[in-house]
Amino acid sequence: MTDQVQELVAECLRARDMAYCPYSRFPVGAAVLSADGAIITGCNVENASYGLTVCAERTAIQRAVAEGHRHFTAIAVTCDIKDRFVGPCGACRQVLMEFGSDWIVYLTKPDGSYKETSLSQLLPLAFSPSHLGKN
Ligand code: THU
Repeated sequence: MTDQVQELVAECLRARDMAYCPYSRFPVGAAVLSADGAIITGCNVENASYGLTVCAERTAIQRAVAEGHRHFTAIAVTCDIKDRFVGPCGACRQVLMEFGSDWIVYLTKPDGSYKETSLSQLLPLAFSPSHLGKN
C-alpha cells in the first residue's frame, strides 16, 4: 500500500477512538482524502434523541467542506467488526456522491487490513447533482 493510503487507513482507525456512541457502543471512524492531499477525519456522534445521530463518514465530509475542501479522491472507514469488511450506510453513500462518483473507498478492519472498492460500486445508478444540472 502507498504511504498515503497507509496514512488514510491509520487516520480512520484513530478517528474511531474519538467516537461518541454511548447508546450503540458501535464506534466508527472515517478519514477522507482531499484532492490536494489533506486528510480530514470524522467519527460517529450520537444523541439521546437517537435520530439526530451523525455517522462518521458524514462528520468527516461536513468537517472537510467547512474547512474548504470540495474535491476528494478517497475515504477510509472502520468499525470494531473484525471478521468482515463493513461498508458505509446508504445515507452516507449518497452524501459522498454529492462530491463526485470517483471516490475510492477503503473498507478497513480494526487490524488495518482493508478492501478497496469504489463509490460507484457501492451506489450504482445513483441520483447525483448531475441530474439537477450541477456538477
Ligand atoms: N454508523 C456510522 O457512523 N457509519 C455508518 O456508515 C453506519 C453506522 C454509526 C451510527 C451509529 O452511531 C452507530 O454506527 C450504530 O448504527
